[in-house]
Amino acid sequence: MMMMPTFVHAKKKTLAVLISGGGSNLKALYNAIENGLLTDTEISLVVSDKANAKGLEWAFSQGLKTLVVSPAMCKQLEVDFEAVLLNALEEHAIDVVVLAGFLRIFKGDVLTAYEGSIVNIHPSLLPAYGGKGMYGNHVHEAVLANQESHTGCTVHLVTANVDEGDVLGQTQVPVLPTDTTETLAQRVLEQEHQLYAQVLQRWLPTIAPKVPSFV
Ligand code: GAR
Repeated sequence: MMMMPTFVHAKKKTLAVLISGGGSNLKALYNAIENGLLTDTEISLVVSDKANAKGLEWAFSQGLKTLVVSPAMCKQLEVDFEAVLLNALEEHAIDVVVLAGFLRIFKGDVLTAYEGSIVNIHPSLLPAYGGKGMYGNHVHEAVLANQESHTGCTVHLVTANVDEGDVLGQTQVPVLPTDTTETLAQRVLEQEHQLYAQVLQRWLPTIAPKVPSFV
């Protein structure tokens, strides 16, 4: 009798973590997996749009698979950035795309193919201080300029509307009268590192893997 394959959910969710800079959220996720705080999950690919991203060097040193997809190079070769990225995601059987300080906005192939399976972390309490141009220290500068008493960080789904996807989790952070952009950014970042892993631990089991496995 012929054995039919049984359709099962892959045991581990495979993540592609996308970065553009320091990669401290990437490190926090990696550590959460190593320490058993984020389970049934593996970082299968780290992608950067910048060859000199510090986090890329670190990822490489940890033995993670790394890839640079350069927008300038794509333009020169007349290939679509998102098409190239999507190809890499599919080649590495990625279930979920995790943006961790990745500063490009998705509009095309990746968004369509991974709708509902792309998450981002943002350094404010969305919907406050979100949208185009609001990223990194620009957010903290605006929070300080408005003399807010608190700010925070948000993990949310990525949609075509920048920073407007469903909120999956938030942490509030106080703004101190003595704060500079740097001290505030650091306080928020420390909370980001905890929040991202906590949200993924809760949310990943609720989504179907992109790539089914057969036994
Ligand atoms: C983080 O604060 C993240 O929230 C922010 O960039 C920083 C990346 O730090 N992302 C955005 O502003 C996206 N809109 P990291 O490279 O050390 O993880």
